[in-house]
Amino acid sequence: MEQTERTELVDASRMHEVIAQVLMALGVGDVDADVVAEVLVEADLTGVDSHGIHLLFMYVNRLESGQIRVDSEIQVLDDSGSTVWLDAGLGIGQVVGIKAVDLAVERAREFGVSAVSVREATHLGALGIYTRRAAQAGMICLCVQNGPTVVPPFGGTTSMFSTNPISYAIPTRTHPTIVYDIATTAVAGNRLLLAKRRGDESIPEGWASDDHGRPTTDTEAASVWNLQWFGGHKGYGLGFLVEVLAGVLAGSSYGRTEHTSSETQGRERVAKGFTFIAIDPDRFIGSEEFARRTDELIDDVHRSETAEGVDRIAVPGEFEAERRAQRLRDGVPMSTTVIDEIDEIARGFGTQTLR
Ligand SMILES: NC(=O)c1ccc[n+]([C@@H]2O[C@H](COP(=O)([O-])OP(=O)(O)OC[C@H]3O[C@@H](n4cnc5c(N)ncnc54)[C@H](O)[C@@H]3O)[C@@H](O)[C@H]2O)c1
Repeated sequence: MEQTERTELVDASRMHEVIAQVLMALGVGDVDADVVAEVLVEADLTGVDSHGIHLLFMYVNRLESGQIRVDSEIQVLDDSGSTVWLDAGLGIGQVVGIKAVDLAVERAREFGVSAVSVREATHLGALGIYTRRAAQAGMICLCVQNGPTVVPPFGGTTSMFSTNPISYAIPTRTHPTIVYDIATTAVAGNRLLLAKRRGDESIPEGWASDDHGRPTTDTEAASVWNLQWFGGHKGYGLGFLVEVLAGVLAGSSYGRTEHTSSETQGRERVAKGFTFIAIDPDRFIGSEEFARRTDELIDDVHRSETAEGVDRIAVPGEFEAERRAQRLRDGVPMSTTVIDEIDEIARGFGTQTLR
């Protein structure tokens, strides 16, 4: 989101404090509240506004209703060294996510490759925050997460899948870490929700259909239950893999089948599965050489010829790294509507506000 007359710049540390204080007022421990605040603010700093502070509305609602459980414990269902299977007991997604990715890194360092799969998890937010963390610890890392039944299979009208995000991150030496992080639908559901909350007049073509399955660019008419896959059958095929790795493999709900203790199911499903896969490049050409060659590849990409009308070629994560540095320095441009709404929540808890 670029800064317009409808946005204001807010300091990242202030955002962190506001989020953490609201969560603590809801009974979340200070360490866990800090983890959630860090993940949300990182999303806003890197420009993934759809998964930043505005999600506080959803989390407050889910914590108050008990859909996300504040005091649940993570259970180890299986630990075979390079593979670990966990049950998150519907605990706070970010807290479990950071523990799971750190475990994946630790085990990949020990065994060369690792997979950590988690059932009864909740929303992780922007997956790239976790994969970047693993890559900055030296690992190539992949993450997938599934969720509520809001997207029909390609060519269908029965919603069975979530927006099924996938992210990978790759260590570099001098360039910013490569971070690829996408929903396999044309757009993440939260981006459509944010466009609706901001009152945007239109959305790009191909994001979503209306309630009757007709493609639309009208923000109001666009249905969050009718999001479209990116690249038609290609995005759908990748989204299907996400459903298997995050749903079936993790022992979570998948498609229209529920495997959860949560009462909210189907479209309202809060329980999600996720899986991290980490590879230690040191077991192949060596960490140093791997990072050097990745840098070389990035340099080649940067030096390559641009198509007409294009002034710059980038690699995944590059724009986000630049945005992060700029926003840390100048503040995060936030919609005044979102600021008003967050401050209303904070005032309700008697905690610090953004303004
Ligand atoms: N946890 C969940 O359940 C869930 C569900 C859906 C989406 N999400 C999150 O939503 C977020 C947004 O997803 P999205 O689909 O809107 O992402 P997007 O379409 O904005 O794509 C972002 C990715 O594309 C790369 N990119 C963009 N322009 C580029 C260019 N010119 N050259 C090279 N790379 C470029 C970026 O570096 C980034 O990796 C992600 O963080 C995702 O994890 C989470």
